[in-house]
Amino acid sequence: MAFKGRDVISILDFSRNELEHVFRVANKMRGIMKHGTTLLKTNLMASLFFEPSTRTRLSFETAMARLGGRVVGFAEPGGTSIAKGETLEDTIRMVDAYTDIIVMRHPKEGSASSAAQVADHPVINAGDGSQHHPTQAMLDLFTIWRELGKVDGLHVAVVGDLKHGRAATSLIYGLSKFDHVRLSLVSPSLLKIRNEVADYLSEKNISMSETENLTDVIRDADVVYVTRIQKERFSDPAEYERVKGSYCLDLRAISGTNDQMIILHPLPRVDELATEVDSSPHAKYFEQAKNGVPVRMALLALILGEAR
Ligand code: CP
Repeated sequence: MAFKGRDVISILDFSRNELEHVFRVANKMRGIMKHGTTLLKTNLMASLFFEPSTRTRLSFETAMARLGGRVVGFAEPGGTSIAKGETLEDTIRMVDAYTDIIVMRHPKEGSASSAAQVADHPVINAGDGSQHHPTQAMLDLFTIWRELGKVDGLHVAVVGDLKHGRAATSLIYGLSKFDHVRLSLVSPSLLKIRNEVADYLSEKNISMSETENLTDVIRDADVVYVTRIQKERFSDPAEYERVKGSYCLDLRAISGTNDQMIILHPLPRVDELATEVDSSPHAKYFEQAKNGVPVRMALLALILGEAR
C-alpha cells in the first residue's frame, strides 16, 4: 500500500483497506511501544501547534520518541517569527527545509492543505479549524475495531457539537468507509452537522437520522461518541450561551443500554460527560486516548517508509 511520502489532510483521502492496514500496524506498535524501537532513528519530526492541544501533540511526540526519532517545534506560535508577521507558507517552507515530516494544528480551515502545497515533505493535519482531524478519526475507528471486533454494521450515536467539532466530522467521514453503519446524530438544532457533511452522507447513501434527544437512540447504540461544545469556534458568544450545558451523559442516561455498548469521547471534556461514568465498563475514552500513540506510531512509520 502506498503510504510512503503521503500527506494526511482528511480521512476521506483513505480507503477502507488503507485504514484497516493502519489498524494492523498500530496493533503491532502496541506490542513494541513500551520498550521502543530505533525504526525512525534518522528522522526528525516538526510538531507545529498553533492551537492548544494535550493529547494530539503529546501522543505524536511520544510516538516519534518511541520510534527512536526526534522532534522539534512549538506548542504555541508566540515565540516564532509568525509574531513578526511571517506567513504560514513561509514558516512551513523553513520547517520543511529542516525536518522530514510536519505535524501541524492550526485554527484556520484548509491550513494543512495549504501547508502541504508548499512542503516537499509529508504534512499531517493534527486539526484545522472545524474541518478535519484525520488522525483522531483513525484512533477512534481503531478503538471501535479493537473493542467491538468490527466497524461494519454498527449503530453509532454521535453526540454534541456536530457543527464545529472536527473530531465528530472526521469520525462520521471515517465511518462512511465501512459497510452498513447506521448513524444517529444527536445535537441541539443550532449545532447540527454542516450542509456539506449532510450532502456527503446523502450522496453515499449512509443510513443517518438526526435528533435532539439522546434517549431516542441510546438503548440501541453500539457506540456513543460524545463531544464537547466547541466554545472557541462560536462567532456569536450569545449563541454559545444558548446551547452551553444543553446535554450531559451520566449514569442515569446509560442505564438499560446494550451490555456491549462503548462510550467514546475525543477529549477534552467540559460538562457533557459526567465523571461518574468513568468507572462504568462502557467507558472507553481513556483507552481511546491511549490508542493515539500506537496509531500515530503506525502512521509515522508508514509515511516515513519504515513500515509496510
Ligand atoms: N482529541 C484532541 O484533539 O485532544 P487535544 O485537543 O488535547 O489534542
